[in-house]
Amino acid sequence: MFDTYTLLSGATLKNRVLMAPMTNFLSNEDGSVSDKEIQYYQRRSGGVGAVITACANVNKTGKGFDGEIGADRDELIPGLRRLSDAIHEKGAKAILQIFHGGRMCPPHLIPGEDVVSASAVPSLRPNAVTPREMTEDEVQETIKDFGEATRRAIEAGFDGVEIHGANTYLIQQFFSPHSNRRTDQWGGEVEERMNFPLAVVESVQQAVRNHASDSFIVGYRLSPEEKEEPGITMDDTLQLVDVLAKQHLDYLHISLSKFKQGSIRDEQDTKPRLEMIQERVGSLVPVMGVGTLITPDEVEKALAEVPLVSIGRELLMEPDWVEKVQSQREDELRLTMKKKQKDDLLIPEPMWTKILSVPNWFPLDED
Ligand SMILES: Cc1cc2nc3c(=O)[nH]c(=O)nc-3n(C[C@H](O)[C@H](O)[C@H](O)COP(=O)(O)O)c2cc1C
Repeated sequence: MFDTYTLLSGATLKNRVLMAPMTNFLSNEDGSVSDKEIQYYQRRSGGVGAVITACANVNKTGKGFDGEIGADRDELIPGLRRLSDAIHEKGAKAILQIFHGGRMCPPHLIPGEDVVSASAVPSLRPNAVTPREMTEDEVQETIKDFGEATRRAIEAGFDGVEIHGANTYLIQQFFSPHSNRRTDQWGGEVEERMNFPLAVVESVQQAVRNHASDSFIVGYRLSPEEKEEPGITMDDTLQLVDVLAKQHLDYLHISLSKFKQGSIRDEQDTKPRLEMIQERVGSLVPVMGVGTLITPDEVEKALAEVPLVSIGRELLMEPDWVEKVQSQREDELRLTMKKKQKDDLLIPEPMWTKILSVPNWFPLDED
């Protein structure tokens, strides 16, 4: 876990444990980084090889959460610079996760409540809105916006960006046969449904060629399956990773709630999705795993299978996880969310409300 790791771009991580991207609801209403957010990240940047930030929207129609970071306007660059500086000060690389929420955006966050997606198909969640199908111009503009957000990340001193192609947001919506029913170049069979994700990758990489030094990191996050029918199958995903593996990316980050998770489409199929991806493309592109990795032993075992892992909830419960493990203080690790330590943990208020209200999301402890 404490070995250094050099990525294709030339950037070297000081170890192989990254902070998973987690929305924290702390940015100001205009998308600028807040002081509280700086403190929250600094608290967690002391040990990990890199911090992958909460998702940041690339344009106005992509904002998915209250208190989300914006990467959609140049005026936000100074705040983003403060954030990358704060993370660097503690010794970690800083990676900005860039995204567009598509049909998952709450209407109140979108100008004119004009929620857009690949096609006019609502998600299957309760109270889902029916989005408007993006026009060709909007698709092209959004692809450019991912490049522009990358340029801003570069100008703000970040070491890289992670393209958020996971967790049901716009890039995944274009890849999914549930949300993408288009008959133009952006829809159709699995090959055509890859066109938008690949155009985003190209736009991001073009921005890197134009504006960054050689060692700028570009990662891609994806969710291997969808429950919906039709929905993304493992067969679709293996075809996607075959193509992504040829795009000179620094890593593929496989979004799963459990590291060893089997199929969410077929309970009988328990073969870990990550293992299938590692077997398929692991020799071509570094694969990053995630999902309920809590103890050092679990992290070491995971790192025997893939070269990189990220940890999320455990870093909320224990911001000093890496430092404690590194200095042989494993017995001091906090493995539950200790309610009385909320202030030391710098858990943001809206996140706290959610943590308390979503059953079984976190192991809660009255202490
Ligand atoms: C509070 C919270 C916010 C999250 N926000 C994001 C996000 O902005 N982008 C993303 O790709 N994943 C997000 N996730 C998913 C995590 O990155 C991670 O995949 C998930 O929590 C499983 O890892 P863990 O068991 O180590 O927490 C979020 C998770 C949590 C707990």
